[in-house]
Amino acid sequence: MESFTFHVPTKFVFGRGAEGKAGEEAKALGARRALVHYGSGSCVRSGLLARVEASLRDAGIETVALGGVVPNPRLGLVKEGAALARKERVDLVLAVGGGSVIDSAKGIAAGALDEGEIWDFYERTRVPQKALPVGCVLTIAAAGSESSWASVVTREDGRKRSLHAEAVKPKFALLNPELTFTLPPFQTASGAADMMAHVLERYYSPSAGVDLTDRLCEGILLSILENLPRALKDPADYDARANLMWAGTIAHNNTCGIGRVQDWGSHALEHELSGLYDCAHGAGLAVVFPAWMRYAVEHAGGAARTAQLAVRVFGVDPRAGTESGRALEGIARFKAFLESCGLPTSFKALGAKREDIPRLVDMLEPERRTIGQFLRLDRQTATAVYELCCQD
Ligand code: NZQ
Ligand code: ZN
Repeated sequence: MESFTFHVPTKFVFGRGAEGKAGEEAKALGARRALVHYGSGSCVRSGLLARVEASLRDAGIETVALGGVVPNPRLGLVKEGAALARKERVDLVLAVGGGSVIDSAKGIAAGALDEGEIWDFYERTRVPQKALPVGCVLTIAAAGSESSWASVVTREDGRKRSLHAEAVKPKFALLNPELTFTLPPFQTASGAADMMAHVLERYYSPSAGVDLTDRLCEGILLSILENLPRALKDPADYDARANLMWAGTIAHNNTCGIGRVQDWGSHALEHELSGLYDCAHGAGLAVVFPAWMRYAVEHAGGAARTAQLAVRVFGVDPRAGTESGRALEGIARFKAFLESCGLPTSFKALGAKREDIPRLVDMLEPERRTIGQFLRLDRQTATAVYELCCQD
């Protein structure tokens, strides 16, 4: 196991009515004026936004609202929000929505206290050392942004990059599983695919002696396999939604990743897909991850890890066939599960094009940065994984 420091500054309030604590939690941070940031209207239609604003008002906190965040949130709105936050002198950014809204809020929070170009943070030429406090009311179990150190933003030309900074970790996250009842099935499934990918990015580790976190990863995956079909069958199944919501948080707040070198190559490959095609991030991962696993099994020493996953999570017989055979059977079962939940597992099903592969690899810029710790991605390996995504 690697040495680690684990710091989660986020206070979680979980359960029915959690959003009603917005005012109390904001006040506890000393906030007087909050920028309430939201998406393309789901929280307006459900009445959630009005409830959150009322909670803030009841606590004596003034509000300024900024909506319009789209999935794969855009840099332009982050800049607009940062300027608004400065002009209105807000002292808290409260995100009401999913990963896109929270990521946009984090960009605003960092940009509001910075004189320079916000995009520098996403190109990682600068790291924000300070940010306005961020709080969130989560409406979709998916990206895990409610307690992660990341903010992923897309520039208007399709370049999608992530900022990583302790300063933007949310100070509080209000998690009410009932708020996710209104999610369309495709968003529910895409969100779960993203959580599974967050676990797998950590599972594929070159670190030895990490049995505890292996088992935590496997437990989270088993719970998602159990609860996603239940939530798709009955969108108002509270316990299924609750288990998925907390799975999304612990899949990405590093509970199951500490002490391990982590891969993250599949995320880099996917971010180019959602940057170019504006697809749902989780759907893109449902295409990329099984292909990446297959490449890792066949060419990069991934058979043992994948066979362990296949046996412990996907129910493959530990005595059947060879290690590689068990690994490939596990990948087949993973793909079948994703497809049974309505997700794409090929370029064709996602709407991506094989002829775009050279462009995707150019955008990935593997020669400019180190991508992948279990499987190092260069131009040739990235191309090979994208090629595998083209097979049905
Ligand atoms: O904008 P609204 O109207 O709210 O609609 C959203 C959006 O269309 C809708 N939605 C959300 N909650 C709903 C709802 N519809 C009905 N009822 C509800 N309760 O769902 C759609 C998707 O929302 P979005 O926020 O985009 O989803 P998600 O949470 O999957 O976030 C995806 C973004 O997060 C990034 C992804 O790259 C992508 O840009 N990620 C962020 C990470 C992080 N910050 O740590 C890590 C991830 O790996 C990921 O890269
Ligand atoms: Zn993700």
